[in-house]
Amino acid sequence: MSQMFDEEIVCKTEKDTQNLAINFAKFLPHNASIALVGDLGTGKTTFVHGLARGLGIPDIIRSPSFNILNIYPSNVSLLHIDAYRLDGSERATDALMLDDFLIPPYILVVEWPERLYNFLEKCNFKVVFSTGDDFSRTICIRQTHQLFH
Ligand SMILES: Nc1ncnc2c1ncn2[C@@H]1O[C@H](COP(=O)(O)OP(=O)(O)OP(=O)(O)O)[C@@H](O)[C@H]1O
Ligand SMILES: [Mg+2]
Repeated sequence: MSQMFDEEIVCKTEKDTQNLAINFAKFLPHNASIALVGDLGTGKTTFVHGLARGLGIPDIIRSPSFNILNIYPSNVSLLHIDAYRLDGSERATDALMLDDFLIPPYILVVEWPERLYNFLEKCNFKVVFSTGDDFSRTICIRQTHQLFH
């Protein structure tokens, strides 16, 4: 599994991106928080769909983009935040009342994490997406802060 980290992994298709996320999901400790960093259309939501599958959550319908927070209950629930329309302020982040929804065991995954107050400073994993030539995407997974139990 260690080859999954700190490597530039080329995903040529959407399926490759999902498969990487499925494998990553199986490795994740309970209550892990994950930042997905990358420009528009680089595959962040595609990766979230793979995480859901890896957690045994049936195929999720492409989540409506007007929802900032989506919750998929399961043995280990998936909380998905798309912070694109937040402004990074503490006030906007507090208004989500995220703490009320973080009921263990869960996995928290955030698109546009720089727009969620104080998230990048604390998250356990940072996944960076970039576009290659044609349709390929390059994905790099880093462990940022260890989770202690
Ligand atoms: N290798 C690939 N991995 C992921 N998506 C790919 C790949 N190649 C092409 N695509 C396409 O790129 C698009 C990625 O969309 P996706 O919604 O996952 O991006 P996003 O990073 O969440 O965008 P946004 O910032 O708007 O939320 C999809 O249309 C998908 O089919
Ligand atoms: Mg997205």
